[in-house]
Amino acid sequence: MDIEALHKVAVKMVTPGKGILAADESTGTIGKRFDSINTESTFDSRRDWREMLFCTEAAMKEHISGVILYDETLRQDAADGTKIVDLIKSHDVIPGIKVDMGTTPLAGRPGETITQGLDGLRERLAEYYKLGARFAKWRAVIEISHPDQYVGSTPTRGGIKANTHALGRYAALCQEANIVPIVEPEVLMGGYHSIERCHEVTEKTLNSLFTELYEQGVKLEGIILKPNMVVSGKKCAQQPCREEIAERTIKVLKDTVPAAVPGIAFLSGGQENEEATRNLDMMNKIGGFPWKLTYSYGRALQQSALNAWQGKAENYDAAQAAFDHRAKMNGLASMGEWSEKAEREDA
Ligand code: 13P
Repeated sequence: MDIEALHKVAVKMVTPGKGILAADESTGTIGKRFDSINTESTFDSRRDWREMLFCTEAAMKEHISGVILYDETLRQDAADGTKIVDLIKSHDVIPGIKVDMGTTPLAGRPGETITQGLDGLRERLAEYYKLGARFAKWRAVIEISHPDQYVGSTPTRGGIKANTHALGRYAALCQEANIVPIVEPEVLMGGYHSIERCHEVTEKTLNSLFTELYEQGVKLEGIILKPNMVVSGKKCAQQPCREEIAERTIKVLKDTVPAAVPGIAFLSGGQENEEATRNLDMMNKIGGFPWKLTYSYGRALQQSALNAWQGKAENYDAAQAAFDHRAKMNGLASMGEWSEKAEREDA
């Protein structure tokens, strides 16, 4: 393991003004996104969509530090025969790879899941490194049960432990292969739970995660944490203001994440585009923490571009303009410099 090289990559992934584009939807997930715009998901249409994003010059050069790819895309060529990986690297952007194999029900823990993909991971990482990936992603999913459910409520301590243990094993294997692990324990934001409950579950999850990382010899200088923000469930009647989200998220991170971690790149998890930008911006305006705080958004970077594209080549420019705008706004938010005025004037 070359920890200096890992640290260098991790630091570059959280360069101020930049963040990560999560374009690693599995074939099933991208199919659902394409369904929403009545577009068939094929090998070529997925390539066209992603190539369009990766060719958005200003966004890629100025506001994207890394792109998380799905296995198919890492091996794919652009329409003109250039390797997609080379296209990404041409903007000085780092290619990354999703290596988990999705979730499955966790035996013995009804209502909870475990992420799969550890078997054979060492060999897959060696191949991904050769294909150009310098960081990876593994997503663990923690779901909060309905507030009225007392018996069998989730998550359980066992469920959290199983998931953070898997994250630790994944992260250690990545570092052995000189690949920076993005460590993603996502507390889902669907459901009826309060922000207090999300705060409590996020704190327990992150505490368990950093214990596992320590016990499994993971060097914190060479990881990126990808957490959820502390929010209330989407269906909860009481929705917090952005100050409360920002303050609680900073508090939970300060309570659990060692200062050796170079950066924290949030997932958007179903927040509206602008909401994800505002919340990140608010945290950076408050400041006073040891890590860089930035974005690793999937939906919050792609949704407006997807709506503009509608699967049609003639909408290419409009889709690129929409992606460029969101990337720019999030770039500002990563420095606490976003404003309502910038949002409107750049649109
Ligand atoms: P969202 O920002 O859409 O949550 O996606 C980020 C991601 O990579 C989830 O694993």
